[in-house]
Amino acid sequence: MAQLSLQGVGKTFRGRAGAWEAVREVCLDIAEGEFLCLLGTSGCGKTTVLNMVAGFEAPTAGRILLDGREVARPGAERGVVFQGQDSLFDWLSALDNIAFGLRLRGVGRRERREAARRYLDMVGLGGQGAKHPAELSGGMKQRIQIARALANDPRILLMDEPFGALDAMTRAGLQTEFSRIWRATGKTVLFITHDIEEACALATRVAVMTRGPGGRIKAVLPVDLPFPRDRTSDAFMAVFREVHALIHAEIAGQGAA
Ligand SMILES: Nc1ncnc2c1ncn2[C@@H]1O[C@H](COP(=O)(O)OP(=O)(O)OP(=O)(O)O)[C@@H](O)[C@H]1O
Ligand SMILES: [Mg+2]
Repeated sequence: MAQLSLQGVGKTFRGRAGAWEAVREVCLDIAEGEFLCLLGTSGCGKTTVLNMVAGFEAPTAGRILLDGREVARPGAERGVVFQGQDSLFDWLSALDNIAFGLRLRGVGRRERREAARRYLDMVGLGGQGAKHPAELSGGMKQRIQIARALANDPRILLMDEPFGALDAMTRAGLQTEFSRIWRATGKTVLFITHDIEEACALATRVAVMTRGPGGRIKAVLPVDLPFPRDRTSDAFMAVFREVHALIHAEIAGQGAA
């Protein structure tokens, strides 16, 4: 059985601007331990899908099952890393940001500081836990977000373009690092991106969405390449080209309907 199952999921927003169908009939099964990249152009509905899986928004059609039970609200078994870099608490140190969820759950001070330090080390920021968000670079903030999500020991990580705002070099470094963490922890990951190379470098499967409105899953491609991935290999290039062709058709407007 799939750990996470999206069954005919749709979302139509109704607001002052009228009704807007963001996504339509999204069907996707994600197995435990899988790294699924949801790839699509800007505005196709990626964040909308993630928000529904996270339980922040309810679908207006279909249903989302987690271990066979319908998702109705956020839960600690789903850890979220948000799009952008502003979701850390400015008034807390990096370490206290990481420990925040543990504090909410009543974990004692010593235990949560130990755990927070462990995850700080894991994301390569050992010794920098006293810094506040304003004293961190963009890449460091993203690492703290990842450490914060991992500290709660979720079963599934939901990540919305976590490296989207970073320069190419920082981004490639964090991709490699996070891929290693994923392999070490065995978490299920639903990772959103609009970067084809990122998807091919990280995913066990890539789900390509059509452009909106009414974004759907256009194709799901397995990426059967060993880790760590060699981005210059012919096999990698072949997968890249395949995914690129699917996305390019969307950008060119041939994929809609
Ligand atoms: N709360 C909302 N109310 C009305 N429309 C919304 C709302 N949230 C999203 N939308 C619309 O739904 C569509 C999909 O938005 P979404 O944020 O899911 O796109 P995305 O794929 O994450 O884009 P990006 O790559 O730019 O982050 C957009 O047209 C957007 O305007
Ligand atoms: Mg988005």
